[in-house]
Amino acid sequence: MKISVIGCGYLGAVHAACMAKLGHDVVGIDVDERKIAALSEAKSPFYEPGLDDLLEEVQATGRLFFTTDMAAAAGCDVHFICVGTPQKKGENGADLSYVDAATSTLLPHLRPGNIVVGKSTVPVGTAARLAEWVRQVEPLTQMMWNPEFLREGHAVSDTLRPDRLVYGVEGGSEDHPAVTTLDAVYASPLDAGTPRLVTDLATAELVKAAANSFLATKISFVNAMAEVCEASGADVTQLADAIGLDDRIGRKFLNAGVGFGGGCLPKDIRAFMARAGELGADQALTFLREVDAINMRRRTRVVELTRELCDGTLLGKRITVLGAAFKPESDDVRDSPALSIAAQLQLQGAVVTVTDPKALANAAGRFPELHYELDTDKAVQRADALLLLTEWQQYRDLEPYALAELVGVPRILDGRNVLDAAKWRAAGWSYRGLGRP
Ligand code: UGA
Repeated sequence: MKISVIGCGYLGAVHAACMAKLGHDVVGIDVDERKIAALSEAKSPFYEPGLDDLLEEVQATGRLFFTTDMAAAAGCDVHFICVGTPQKKGENGADLSYVDAATSTLLPHLRPGNIVVGKSTVPVGTAARLAEWVRQVEPLTQMMWNPEFLREGHAVSDTLRPDRLVYGVEGGSEDHPAVTTLDAVYASPLDAGTPRLVTDLATAELVKAAANSFLATKISFVNAMAEVCEASGADVTQLADAIGLDDRIGRKFLNAGVGFGGGCLPKDIRAFMARAGELGADQALTFLREVDAINMRRRTRVVELTRELCDGTLLGKRITVLGAAFKPESDDVRDSPALSIAAQLQLQGAVVTVTDPKALANAAGRFPELHYELDTDKAVQRADALLLLTEWQQYRDLEPYALAELVGVPRILDGRNVLDAAKWRAAGWSYRGLGRP
């Protein structure tokens, strides 16, 4: 099929490359010339494992190209809208200006029989509004909503082998003509047995909001347990292992630590609350305010624990933060707990050095006042305390004996509970975890 993918960020660039890998002819379109220039040379503008190789592989087939010119969408059968929906400045709601701009620029290029497929995370009701808009311009065009569930760091495999496909169509019927077209787009994962659900537009939009809210709630639940463990001397990692063995609960997403960040969970739960308020259903989601509050409290808690670890004062203390990205295998620093903690420590008088294998350029763009060092050995030199805040494998593998020779004082706060506390203590370190004795 001939496919256009509008928006080439963390979602769209991967989607475009994966659709070409599935055998389709794809054009990726974005207004950002720098992004398009990089992608055109088969270089991902952000770090995503496997994406550079995939771009190179599919561009060699001639099935994928990138452009800033929306006219390239003309002649495509299916148009995926993959632009961002960030949080509005100073408000909880989602900023839909990119979705609206992408749709409006696409409209003149639509042809009868085309299908416009929204993938961006949007407040419920957006798809119906856009469908109406699209229909007014080209009555023979269909609008669908097909939420994306990929995780950064696993984006390529999640797109090629998704755990489910959700198609939102007007009326919610399997017989909707657009269903057959999208089945052809996803023929390969469907043949491999990926479950596919057809819903109405509103349900498809809500599936995404509900999924991310559930994940955020699960993390804040275990972090609330961590607070109680801290108050009672219990160990949240053992607690999570034990309750996780109940397969109704499950161990995944029960890692207590500095909490969730990134460009999705934090802004999605806020946008969901804002939308529920507009719909008069705000009471249903007041618990998400608590989920958000527990999450933000983790960051303050790490600052307090660091102060305790440094004998009660942060003034002039040399603190090294291991990890800047919101999670490992990503260079994304949007709402990163690690960076937010680093900035708070610096504001309170500590001298903070941040290290990360991939995210330093993005981090420096957001927090230019912090000091950055790529080399771990250099970053930890003479430190009064280390904070492991993003669990990259290379930090999990750090050797406590060797590291003790480099730092000023061997103290470590394990913000992700991934280190072997006994091993670090045996090597002479003061070790603190979160929610652990
Ligand atoms: C999340 C969802 O997991 C995806 O399904 C969804 O498609 C995506 O948002 C999106 O809306 O686009 P992502 O933001 O890539 O994916 O990252 P996650 O793997 O969900 O991690 C989110 C945050 O939670 C990270 O900061 C991570 O460190 C933290 N986390 C995760 C924990 O603190 N504890 C855990 O047990 C798991």
